[in-house]
Amino acid sequence: MSEQAQFKRAAAAAALDFVRPGMRLGLGTGSTAEAFLELLSVRIADGLDVVSAATSERTASRARSLGIQVVELDDLAPLDLTIDGADEADSALNLIKGGGGALLREKIVAASSRQMIVIADASKLVDCLGAFALPVEVVSFGARTTLDRLERALTTLGYKDVAVTPRSGADGLFRTDSGNLVFDCALKLIHDAPALARALSQVPGVVDHGLFIGLASHLIVAGSAGIKILERATA
Ligand code: 5RP
Repeated sequence: MSEQAQFKRAAAAAALDFVRPGMRLGLGTGSTAEAFLELLSVRIADGLDVVSAATSERTASRARSLGIQVVELDDLAPLDLTIDGADEADSALNLIKGGGGALLREKIVAASSRQMIVIADASKLVDCLGAFALPVEVVSFGARTTLDRLERALTTLGYKDVAVTPRSGADGLFRTDSGNLVFDCALKLIHDAPALARALSQVPGVVDHGLFIGLASHLIVAGSAGIKILERATA
């Protein structure tokens, strides 16, 4: 196992301390979230009673194969706790998510949860978001016109010459679980994440974007210095 994979697993293991019997859990998507599924399944085999809703078809299928009960979000919400990974997180617990293409369901599940805990290896904790290209989910109808509006909105906000790249999949364009496309926006440095999030949400054709603002309550980061748990400051 690579060192980064070990850190992801260590963060996932630390998140297990937040899980209580009888909880309704939201299950994230990605390799860190899958490490959590594996560890959770061991606890379930030992008698822990939890039920879950998944943020992607991939996670639902992996969870079921591990013996974790997965039901529809609508039959379970509100959730007690969602555990998910991130592509980037800053110290205010603003996140970039969607590297695995699951940002829409991830945001719906997180927003349906009383608490969201993010698990990550230390490379994900950054001073300023934006080195990871921001995923934006768009409907396929009129996608080229949405691309134009998106570029104009970014320019208006001061992000010049941003490369906006439609994500590729195995057979042409990548499709999310909801059948949408993803545009990856290479912003490099995001100056004001909440302002950008608000502006992107107003672009016709944009379904959602990978900026998660005010959703994560805790960030568990594992690195060579050990485990660090950051808590979001509330006003
Ligand atoms: C999927 C996500 C993931 O949480 C993010 O991409 C992190 O993935 P990993 O844990 O594999 O590094 O947002 O849409």
